[in-house]
Amino acid sequence: MNAPIAIIGTGLAGLSAAQSLHAAGLEVELFDKSRGSGGRMASKRSDAGSLDLGAQYFTARDRRFVEVVQQWQARGWVAEWDPQLYHYNQNGLLPSPDEQVRWVGTPRMSAISRALLGALPVHFSCRITEVFRGEQHWSLQDAEGNGHGPYSAVLVATPAPQATNLLAAAPKLAGAAASVIMEPTWAVALGFATPLETRVEACFVQGGALDWLARNRSKPGRDGGFDTWVLHATSAWSRQHLDLPKDAVIERLHGAFAELIGCALPAPAFALAHRWLYARPAGGHEWGALADADLGLYVCGDWCLSGRVEGAWLSGQEAARRLLEHRNP
Ligand code: FAD
Ligand code: NAI
Repeated sequence: MNAPIAIIGTGLAGLSAAQSLHAAGLEVELFDKSRGSGGRMASKRSDAGSLDLGAQYFTARDRRFVEVVQQWQARGWVAEWDPQLYHYNQNGLLPSPDEQVRWVGTPRMSAISRALLGALPVHFSCRITEVFRGEQHWSLQDAEGNGHGPYSAVLVATPAPQATNLLAAAPKLAGAAASVIMEPTWAVALGFATPLETRVEACFVQGGALDWLARNRSKPGRDGGFDTWVLHATSAWSRQHLDLPKDAVIERLHGAFAELIGCALPAPAFALAHRWLYARPAGGHEWGALADADLGLYVCGDWCLSGRVEGAWLSGQEAARRLLEHRNP
């Protein structure tokens, strides 16, 4: 009997790999530094209900992902979101409808990771700081100095900058991860006691601090008393204002929102800000996953592919495929 496989990161990439390995009869053990699963697809509980501050929706273009999303839909984990879509640029705020199918987790984004995790063994609030190999097996150390193991293989499924240190045993993999720059995103949620008088439910923004905004209640299954909006700043603005206090970020992005939305904007009854330090890879890669199969060290994440939800899922599949192929050539 092989020792279990350690998976560091319970975002979609880690969970996608975990599902494949578990389905192939292998034992997995997951770790995440956060209190729950989902990573950048997690939802934050707040006074205004549950909010998707990270991934807003996702598209499915690869045939394999299309099929899996259809299964998620049949199980009630996801639903289509068809907002009144707008576009804001130098010509102002204009409707921008299209035919693209967009998906969201129901009743919140984190429903997907929660369902995928199921009853798999997981350690939350456990930040792995070291991954090292003994003569035959791998061991992990966490930030509190506890050891974990032995494992027959390790799969690192974190954003690239957080993966680099964990890959010290395989300098080539560490070098590849270190070459990936990931850009930050400031996210702000504003809740209004009275619904805003606008038809806008989502908007792609060009020019200025904002990149995107969405009306939470337009997504299927969302509740909460306020009319809550999620605003995302551009990578450039977020980088320039990385260390701005949260109150100031809220004030600036509220101002940018007021300028473009085209209706009266009262003071919000509720506001919060969240900084995603490693929100998206600066450039695209086509690695699928990275591996040193002889050592038993595998790496996956959105940054190995498209930097989107779909890329994270496909990358996790690819890492698992390579591990299984190595064990059963
Ligand atoms: P993550 O979700 O980041 O998961 C990595 C996990 O590893 C995290 O849970 C983290 O806590 C954990 N971790 C890190 N280091 C350690 C450690 N040392 N020890 C233990 N655990 C660790 N994509 C779309 O397709 N559509 C969108 O609309 C969209 N909007 C986005 C908006 C924002 C603001 C952000 C931030 C992202 C958005 N994305 C969007 C991107 C999408 O969220 C990601 O591509 C996807 O969720 C990445 O999944 P992942 O598993 O690769 O990484
Ligand atoms: P998509 O096809 O809906 O959007 C891709 C891009 O096309 C959009 O960013 C937008 O610029 C443009 N676009 C699409 N439909 C449009 C319309 N009707 N009107 C005007 N412009 C339109 O979805 P896809 O390809 O799955 O992309 C995911 C989204 O996630 C992107 O918007 C991306 O910016 C966002 N994202 C945000 C991150 C962040 O940190 N803020 C991280 C990763 C992804």
